[in-house]
Amino acid sequence: MKVVLIEDDSVLNRTMKRVIEKHYAVTAFTSPASAVEYISENGADVVVTDIRMPEMTGFQVLEKVRSASPETAVLMITGQSSIDESVKAIKSGAFDYIPKPVDTELLIYKLDFVNEKMTLKALAETAVKKHGMVTASPKMEAVLNTAGRVARTDSNVLITGETGTGKEVIARFIHENSDRARRPFADINCCNLQPHLFESELFGHKKGGFTGADSDRRGIIQSAFGGTLFLDEIGEMPIDLQPKFLRFLETKSFYPVGSSTQEQADVRIIAATNRDLSVMAEEGTFRSDLFYRLNVINIELPPLRQRREDIIPLVHHFIEKYKHINTRVRGLDASAEQCLTAYDYPGNVRELSNIIERAMILEQGELLGCDALNIGCPVEPMGLSLDSVMKKHILKVLEMAGGNRQKAAEILGVDTSTVYRKLKEYGLS
Ligand SMILES: Nc1ncnc2c1ncn2[C@@H]1O[C@H](COP(=O)(O)OP(=O)(O)OP(=O)(O)O)[C@@H](O)[C@H]1O
Ligand SMILES: [Mg+2]
Repeated sequence: MKVVLIEDDSVLNRTMKRVIEKHYAVTAFTSPASAVEYISENGADVVVTDIRMPEMTGFQVLEKVRSASPETAVLMITGQSSIDESVKAIKSGAFDYIPKPVDTELLIYKLDFVNEKMTLKALAETAVKKHGMVTASPKMEAVLNTAGRVARTDSNVLITGETGTGKEVIARFIHENSDRARRPFADINCCNLQPHLFESELFGHKKGGFTGADSDRRGIIQSAFGGTLFLDEIGEMPIDLQPKFLRFLETKSFYPVGSSTQEQADVRIIAATNRDLSVMAEEGTFRSDLFYRLNVINIELPPLRQRREDIIPLVHHFIEKYKHINTRVRGLDASAEQCLTAYDYPGNVRELSNIIERAMILEQGELLGCDALNIGCPVEPMGLSLDSVMKKHILKVLEMAGGNRQKAAEILGVDTSTVYRKLKEYGLS
């Protein structure tokens, strides 16, 4: 992460530079004009700037940086007790502010925060570029890893997971990464199968093969020749059709309806379901021999609530996807981020996509807020551990107290030693 520091007081400038460079690459300026020129040529990930400077104010710096390099986060150093300045900083689009005298631990804590956000965003962007999908969690990394290895084989794959978890996305990913990528990806939804048309849809028919078949028709298996056949919602396949399909899976050969010539198929089978086929097999609603045949390799997609690291990268992905709806929105506010991270998503990624699409329509500001999300955001953010709430609160109070630990302890109603101990626990002292 590249940091640019702008502070006209050369003593403070040197002190802050020394602290920051222990963690991040930093270029320090006492002249805001030179800094702005440097940023427009070289870019920066974060700018830490003082406000009151003779040559140019911090707000002018902010404005120039925002137009030259909108991705850059600006952290403003506000006057000790100037609430107005801090409010103005946030309203003008600063990422955050830090009061004077600067508490160096708080400064690094805030820089770490920007760094963490950037890392997540970068991870998500490379994942999208590489796989056309967002993955930031170790769980999804493992899924992609398996899918990548499976892609090189011709084995049947069964993809399981709740609705909206991305089963179809993974099926396409396997196809795209296989030797069959240049051939068709054909999908058939087993929900819509008409029992009397099943064979004809799948295997095709000859003219006169049944009443109403007035010409030859190729089935989906012929159209997908050399490619992948994706059977979505396989759990819904009517039980009386299952033996026919099983026979096809076993022999990879079939007769078009009304034909006496056996044809050979060349398709890779991927099936998906949000039902538990093993339970269905036990209950007798799904044939167990078909289940075993399909389940050569199982890829299980975890629900979104079990891989919360993916939520914020996905949100940014969807904001980007829906930016044609609302070009003003450029991110999320902090409360929306907490709501979204805490929410349970019964409809998984599809639901998240819908939430963001709707919020993009409703939002009138530059940052998506809780109101536009409309997912019943709790007043107090839920889903955070007591420890993390405590840490946030202590740091907030410390900030209010201008970095003065004794004052912070008074506000918190605890001993100063407790504040020191806590900060040490958080690795901030
Ligand atoms: N990791 C991801 N990155 C980006 N988009 C995703 C990701 N996972 C899912 N999506 C998007 O979420 C939506 C739902 O995904 P998909 O249709 O693959 O889910 P599904 O598991 O097949 O759902 P269902 O069980 O309802 O058929 C799609 O719009 C898809 O593009
Ligand atoms: Mg699907």
